[in-house]
Amino acid sequence: MHDIIRQLQEKREAARLGGGQRRIDAQHAKGKLTARERIELLLDEDSFEEWDMYKEHRCTDFGMAEETVPGDGVVTGYGTVNGRLVFVFSQDFTVFGGSLSETHAQKICKIMDHAMKVGAPVIGLNDSGGARIQEGVDSLGGYADVFQRNVMASGVVPQISLIMGPCAGGAVYSPSMTDFIFMVKDSSYMFVTGPEVVKTVTHEEVTAEELGGAVTHTTKSGVADLAFEDDVEALAMLRRFIDFLPLSNREKPPVKPTADPADRMDESLDTLVPANANQPYDMKELIAKIVDEGDFFELQPDYAKNILIGFGRMEGQTVGIVANQPLVLAGCLDIKSSIKAARFVRFCDAFNIPVVTFVDVPGFMPGTSQEYGGIIKHGAKLLYAYAECTVPKITVITRKAYGGAYDVMSSKHLRGDVNLAWPTAEIAVMGPKGAVEIIFREEKNDPAKISAREAEYKEKFANPFVAAHRGFIDDVIMPHNTRKRICRSLAMLRDKQLDNPWRKHGNIPL
Ligand code: COA
Repeated sequence: MHDIIRQLQEKREAARLGGGQRRIDAQHAKGKLTARERIELLLDEDSFEEWDMYKEHRCTDFGMAEETVPGDGVVTGYGTVNGRLVFVFSQDFTVFGGSLSETHAQKICKIMDHAMKVGAPVIGLNDSGGARIQEGVDSLGGYADVFQRNVMASGVVPQISLIMGPCAGGAVYSPSMTDFIFMVKDSSYMFVTGPEVVKTVTHEEVTAEELGGAVTHTTKSGVADLAFEDDVEALAMLRRFIDFLPLSNREKPPVKPTADPADRMDESLDTLVPANANQPYDMKELIAKIVDEGDFFELQPDYAKNILIGFGRMEGQTVGIVANQPLVLAGCLDIKSSIKAARFVRFCDAFNIPVVTFVDVPGFMPGTSQEYGGIIKHGAKLLYAYAECTVPKITVITRKAYGGAYDVMSSKHLRGDVNLAWPTAEIAVMGPKGAVEIIFREEKNDPAKISAREAEYKEKFANPFVAAHRGFIDDVIMPHNTRKRICRSLAMLRDKQLDNPWRKHGNIPL
């Protein structure tokens, strides 16, 4: 009996050593933690239940029959983050470079299947040299098995990828279908084809970091949501992030008790919007003053900065926040910002998270690059996302809400539940100057007349009351009361029920 226990202990120790001390040291030398160290930091102490620790690959080609390592390059199982259940896989770069074999894929699929059954998020810690080259098509099949599950889990349980090493070729497509991608600066990269292939095909010289590093994907491509300095910071922030999310689409968003009063007033908001309509202000200041304890978890802060997205809490309950940012491109909607916000709104809708939208939008971005790039189709994504969204939707117009962009930004017409405006709101087809130049074209050489017309237009339309007369705005509120009004609206909407008609799926403009 004791022998068996000793054997079990030895087997466990061997599995825990992964690819051996030499490779663990090499991993540390690169500033990276091992697969198991990462899990320890991610999960609550002593909560990890590991599965398939002894699972080995079945490949016999290229001398692989003698090369087996228990666990086969990925550590899988479940545990808790601040007491809440999550499933996790952590690729072990010390074992065959974390490459994905048939067996490795089976382990990932197993936890994904369970996560969907019980309703808990799947967190992938990615650090892999890609498909296990010795296995050929078996490993490709393994990838596709994971992809299929990514799609089936989409909108059912949150899926989060943390890229902590290489992630190249077909390997990128599993994280790309997850809801959020976080990356570690300098030690992680994602690309479909690496620098060598790029050089051969397009003759471009580019480093792996420039091509697919954390900074590239959080500033240029928008593939990743956040970039962190190192493994420790990334894992700590992931724990904070998970706290905002429901565990599955069967749950309401979590509520975190707060000491911040729901009726807290903030007088400084009364002067946030400058008197000059062309002067910008920082929408982040408004968000920070509205949410519980100023805690706004912003996503994609360095990409398409003309729109802000992220999670906050109101009276403890998670809300998704979407806001035009007048500081960048005057808050115009363009291709990138529309896509950024659309995907976020759809995440919130899938997971029962109310959406709070702050509007200050002068319209869609004009120009050939936008039109040639398909702003019509991409702008429609945001419109579509808001229109199909059935979770509580609260909109506050702080200043401009012009033209089609007014409609898009969670307007009453797209089933906005509570639509409020500050007294500084201007809800119109366009700004007074542009409007007068078009409708009074014949007076354009008479500055006195033009400025009188502009004043007339401003008086008539550049305010929230025309929309309020129609009922498109439920109330014009004092800015200092914004938090109270949103909290009350959310409380009123807590048991909102709204269903879209049955269909196999809609056809969002892609
Ligand atoms: N299949 C099998 N083994 C792999 C592998 C893969 N896809 N990728 C890496 N490995 C192994 C290496 O053979 C090496 O084994 P060893 O420790 O026994 O020597 C170990 O993993 C570490 O790889 P190494 O190349 O030394 O690490 P690195 O940090 O210098 O480079 C990569 C990392 C990912 C850039 C490099 O390993 C690579 O290019 N891998 C192949 C990528 C690829 O083409 N994948 C298939 C298409 S998806």
